[in-house]
Amino acid sequence: MNGKPFRGFESHPLRLIHRRDSKPANADPREEKHWKCVSERAGSEALGVKGRGEEESHPLRLIHRSDSKPANAEEKQGDNKMGKKKSVIDFLKMKKDGEKITFLTCYDYPTATFCEKAGLDMLLVGDSLGMVVYGYEGTIPVTMEQMIVHSEAVRRGAPNIFVIGDMPFMSYQESVEKAIYNAGRFYKEANMDAIKLEGGRRVIDRIKGIVDAGMVVMGHIGLTPQSSGQLGGFKAQGRTAESAMELVLDAQAIEDAGAFAILLEAIPPEVGKIITERSEIPVLSIGAGIDCDGQLLIVGDMLGLFEAFTPKFVKKYDSLSEDITEAFRKYVKDIKEKKFPEEKHAYRMEPGEKEKLEKMVSRI
Ligand code: KIV
Repeated sequence: MNGKPFRGFESHPLRLIHRRDSKPANADPREEKHWKCVSERAGSEALGVKGRGEEESHPLRLIHRSDSKPANAEEKQGDNKMGKKKSVIDFLKMKKDGEKITFLTCYDYPTATFCEKAGLDMLLVGDSLGMVVYGYEGTIPVTMEQMIVHSEAVRRGAPNIFVIGDMPFMSYQESVEKAIYNAGRFYKEANMDAIKLEGGRRVIDRIKGIVDAGMVVMGHIGLTPQSSGQLGGFKAQGRTAESAMELVLDAQAIEDAGAFAILLEAIPPEVGKIITERSEIPVLSIGAGIDCDGQLLIVGDMLGLFEAFTPKFVKKYDSLSEDITEAFRKYVKDIKEKKFPEEKHAYRMEPGEKEKLEKMVSRI
């Protein structure tokens, strides 16, 4: 790998995921023409990329994974009618077309089912679950075991959404080998579509290693919670030209290492715009401005469930903690006042059985 992915498609590591010939091994020879068409479409339409070797070596052959599904695949998958799961190719195309990518964190099965119904493009099983679900002060205590359990639950609830597993603290910092091993666990045990890890140039060898192993990586720079101690706390980054320049260089390095996307957290919108315009891969924002290719929020923040603190970049779409607390209050009151359960909540005995039982009980 020469580390120049989307700038020279013929060398992009994503190609490693694809068969050079995208045709399935058992394809009907009569369908030769179909596969050639699909191949040409992937090369020329998906990104508007022109030039040499399109059909021979283009990384966008990944599109065949979805094209090779039966036409009625969605119907066979059950309730989800939102459409097929998006792939890295779709996200590249969305960037090119200026279509914003919708992205939310998710940690459990029921929320994942709601995300499917709502038509989210991407989900992150973030290590923010340490705070949002487990009540830790930060993300540092989160383990791979916790991440895998939650990723599995999200996968079950959202089989048709592109889901990204977040590498927790010390699952990739120690060595490239450990990073590859733990990224592989997200794939093998939780069927994730990609993994995310924090850091720019200092984790480039980890990103390259994971990409070279055939996996899909999202980079994450700006406010990186796992190293918030070094940043002096949960603070916005890139507010001076010098520190913003570091982010620009980090983003460039992440792209060159073969990541499929970059997440920018808590940086000025001016910097988010510059990085987005310079990148050929999608740039997602959580507090990095409207000009990025898509937006992420922490589900507990946007639903008004997480009360410990609310970052400036959060828009609250609901105040569920109030609704839930109110529901619990009503439940407590009903029980105390003997208003619950009501007749409609009871499983009555079959006719005559009560009398029979009373006789049986009187004999003991
Ligand atoms: O863990 C997470 O949810 C994240 C976001 C804060 C970006 O990494």
